[in-house]
Amino acid sequence: MSRSPLVIAIDGAAGSGKSTLARGLAGALGMPYVNTGLMYRALAASARRANASVDDEGALLDLARGLRFHLRAGEPPELEVEGYDTAELTSPEVESTVSAVARHPVVRRWMCDRQRALGRSGAVVEGRDIATVVFPNADVKLFLRADPEERAARRADERMRSADDAGDAIQARDARDDRTTPLEPAPGAIVIDTGKLGIAETLREALRIVEERTAPR
Ligand code: DC
Repeated sequence: MSRSPLVIAIDGAAGSGKSTLARGLAGALGMPYVNTGLMYRALAASARRANASVDDEGALLDLARGLRFHLRAGEPPELEVEGYDTAELTSPEVESTVSAVARHPVVRRWMCDRQRALGRSGAVVEGRDIATVVFPNADVKLFLRADPEERAARRADERMRSADDAGDAIQARDARDDRTTPLEPAPGAIVIDTGKLGIAETLREALRIVEERTAPR
């Protein structure tokens, strides 16, 4: 009997090391990498460009429908949003409005459908609600945790901002995101504390879990 395509769900807070692990895992396993945060970030950027209100659910859904998502060839193949580059998607302006854009149920339902389509042939999918809502039957569910200081330091390195600024921005976004998608490990998720492990160790641990969870019984 052939097995359905493998889906690995990775959830966790901003700065918990999700993207580093998800990309590493996808590369090691030869699977596509889908970063769902980019999809909400692109919608926030699109709303800014169009001068649309973050409260206007209908306008946001229309803008979402205009976004083009692709898996860019590479090792691993990665999700990209046509016309939006990393500088814009990680800008403070986008980070300050993305939670407001992502809080609308109609927008989330539309995004979830796109995410399921992108993961249909198997993928490592990263976000906040992947194992709870998008792929509740994922073969492997990982939930990443890290101390707030650890997350702020990591974000400061990535964005070349001070740890204090990065920490404040993360905390403000956490509080807003928690109202929409409370960060809780899904049933059956394995929690990894990335503050205690380095990048290579986190990847090794995740690969061990994937092997264990997908071994024929
Ligand atoms: O993972 P990230 O920091 O790139 O995500 C950007 C924002 O998108 C985050 O503040 C919350 C939102 N988001 C979401 O609501 N659901 C997801 N599956 C992924 C991200």
